Amino acid sequence: MKSLKIVGTGVSLPSRVLTNADLERMVDTSDRWITERTGIKERRIADEGVSTSDLCADALRSACDDAGLSPGDLDAIIVGTSTTDTLFPSTACWVQGKLGLHGPAAFDVSAGCSGFLYGLELAGALITSGSAQRVGVVGGEVMSKVVNWEDRSTCVLFGDGAGAAVVTAGVGGSGVLASNWGADGTLASILYQPAGGTKRPATHQTIDEHAHTVHMEGNTVFKHAVVAMSTAAISAMERAAITADDVDLFIPHQANMRIMEVARERVGVPREKMMVVLHKYGNMSAATIPVALHEARREGRVQDGSTLVLTAFGTGFTWGASVLRW
Ligand code: ACO
Repeated sequence: MKSLKIVGTGVSLPSRVLTNADLERMVDTSDRWITERTGIKERRIADEGVSTSDLCADALRSACDDAGLSPGDLDAIIVGTSTTDTLFPSTACWVQGKLGLHGPAAFDVSAGCSGFLYGLELAGALITSGSAQRVGVVGGEVMSKVVNWEDRSTCVLFGDGAGAAVVTAGVGGSGVLASNWGADGTLASILYQPAGGTKRPATHQTIDEHAHTVHMEGNTVFKHAVVAMSTAAISAMERAAITADDVDLFIPHQANMRIMEVARERVGVPREKMMVVLHKYGNMSAATIPVALHEARREGRVQDGSTLVLTAFGTGFTWGASVLRW
């Protein structure tokens, strides 16, 4: 078992709500289509001046409060995000600056929707190796700024938000019982933001082509997500020597209710043990798992000794799963 315990969680969700009815007035879509195909009813949208680091800093501050720590007690800050404030420096450095900190290591993990679980895996490695004692792991996104609001096939899916966890060395029987992570870069172009990096720097043409927004083959993502999320979870559960009956709460990445349902069925966990926040917040990419975890704790669905299975899939493609004993 990796010596890692989550001692505090926090979230930051913009107050502005965009409903399916609002989207009906923006693109050729309907509440019925969005609800049936995705399970999403509404999502949060950040104000114009708000960037990913604002949400991440708020969420991490709350997670530190929850842990009874100050942000200055952290040895490292890891931010999982695809919607960085700037190409450089990292969003984690902007977060660190906003928290008024000097010194702790700060870096981003670019693993799309798997970013929070990748961050958790790295935090476990830092703590186990003795490099850090307390690590802030954040998943945060302002997806609304990289979505093409004229493309109905993508703009209805995403939302903005951040979730954070403070992790320390585990005590007693708590910790990460098992985990796994992986990637398949041969499928990178199935879901990506084509322009803005060195591959295709920003030009007037890239702006005109909406090449700075999410480009996605939805059906292909769907098929890979179902298989990868369930396979990662099952393999982590086997390594942890637990069965579906031992799982108290299943927290999948919240991208699409149909993906989550099929993954849940393949893992063998009953519906009432799956945490769902998708209907309220849409797909917040790296933020969905820490936000769902925080809400589960607030609702009393996570107790000392609870066994949680977290699983994610995202651009890259990347995937990851962790079995936690709370
Ligand atoms: N409103 C109304 N109709 C729409 C909309 C919309 N918002 N979007 C697409 N349609 C239409 C299409 O044009 C198409 O019409 P046609 O049959 O006349 O050509 C029809 O609906 C069906 O389109 P499909 O793309 O086949 O619909 P599908 O059932 O596959 O659902 C969806 C699309 C929701 C995107 C699904 O493929 C999906 O969820 N994929 C996963 C993508 C994802 O979650 N990505 C997030 C990032 S990665 C991650 O988080 C895992």
